[in-house]
Amino acid sequence: MRLIETCLIAAAATLAAPLASGQTTAKLKVGLMLPYTGTFTALGNAIENGFKLYVAEQGGKLAGREIDFIKIDDESDPAKATDNVNKLIKRDNVDLIVGTVHSGVAMAMAKVAKETGTLLIVPNAGAGAVTGPMCAPNIFRSSFTNWQPGYATGEAVAKRGHKRVVTITWKYAAGDEMVGGFKEAFEKAGGQVVKELNLPFPNVEFQALLTEIAAVKPDAVFSFFAGGGAVKFVKDYAAAGLKKNIPLYGTGFLTDGTLEAQGADAEGVLTSLHYADSLNTPRDNAFRLAYAKAYKQQPDVYAVQGYDAAQMLAVGLTAVKGDIGKRAELVAAIEKARIDSPRGAFTLSKSHNPVQDFYLRQVTGKENKVIGIASKSLADPGRGCRM
Ligand code: PHB
Repeated sequence: MRLIETCLIAAAATLAAPLASGQTTAKLKVGLMLPYTGTFTALGNAIENGFKLYVAEQGGKLAGREIDFIKIDDESDPAKATDNVNKLIKRDNVDLIVGTVHSGVAMAMAKVAKETGTLLIVPNAGAGAVTGPMCAPNIFRSSFTNWQPGYATGEAVAKRGHKRVVTITWKYAAGDEMVGGFKEAFEKAGGQVVKELNLPFPNVEFQALLTEIAAVKPDAVFSFFAGGGAVKFVKDYAAAGLKKNIPLYGTGFLTDGTLEAQGADAEGVLTSLHYADSLNTPRDNAFRLAYAKAYKQQPDVYAVQGYDAAQMLAVGLTAVKGDIGKRAELVAAIEKARIDSPRGAFTLSKSHNPVQDFYLRQVTGKENKVIGIASKSLADPGRGCRM
């Protein structure tokens, strides 16, 4: 090891040393690996905003430690993911990583986190593997597994009496797994998926696929798109004249954070998700007000997931008085936690994924209005990774 590195490490160790009270006070380095360009840009920004809002509400510190954020734009590109996450760990020496949105990128991050033991909190990406086969004591998720909203929507679409459905999504882990969850619930209830349509991520040339939907004439369509792609899909679906004859359903990502841009073309679209705009609980109302005040825009599900990632970290750090090196105690505290989320309180499954309610929502004006519960206390199917 070079001398300068030795000195830096020694200095860092001194800075991070606990006080006599046992409280660690040095700044905590949080790596934010999120999409800041491309179709998921708004999602990355909302996650960062949500995370920072919670920190600001705690007076700018978590468990007595101020935070340095080190940001990296992952571009939702799985091919760059391993390099990016290694930069945060090896070059920037972060204490933990919060990221990301895209399932393919998250799987590469989870692999490195598992190998290096770096604490990772996933604030969106739902890849089943992250809290399934790849799960590890140091990996947590504040969002969902892709299977969950897919399954909840499948139950809801069956209950509404539809029998023949076409699915359409981007061809990658998130799309495949949400369609998988949808199909499982929908077919169990007697429905039939008559065609599965796909296009590569992040393409938005929907025309040929919309023509196919018109030819098949299903009872309904189930879709997963998000961010910029979701805006275009909902607009193109309406422009193709399909909306008035074939009801459009989706996981809630289709209409979350997108309604301003989708305008009247989104009116009436039905989705299910673990969040909605009109929950009207004191907890959510307080969150929405604080978020709107801080950022001059309305929060969405991604903002909530970022906020809750910070809450989960705070629970763990508080249990160890800021000493993130006390890994076993930190993990045990998060595992036991009941997170007071704006979505409604949740606990974590033994795979470290939220066990939560899924709301059935319908777009009414600029809101995803709750019209029922699609699935109560839905847990991921993971088998667990507790210490
Ligand atoms: C994912 O890739 O897991 C993903 C991306 C965007 C969403 C939801 C899931 O809105």
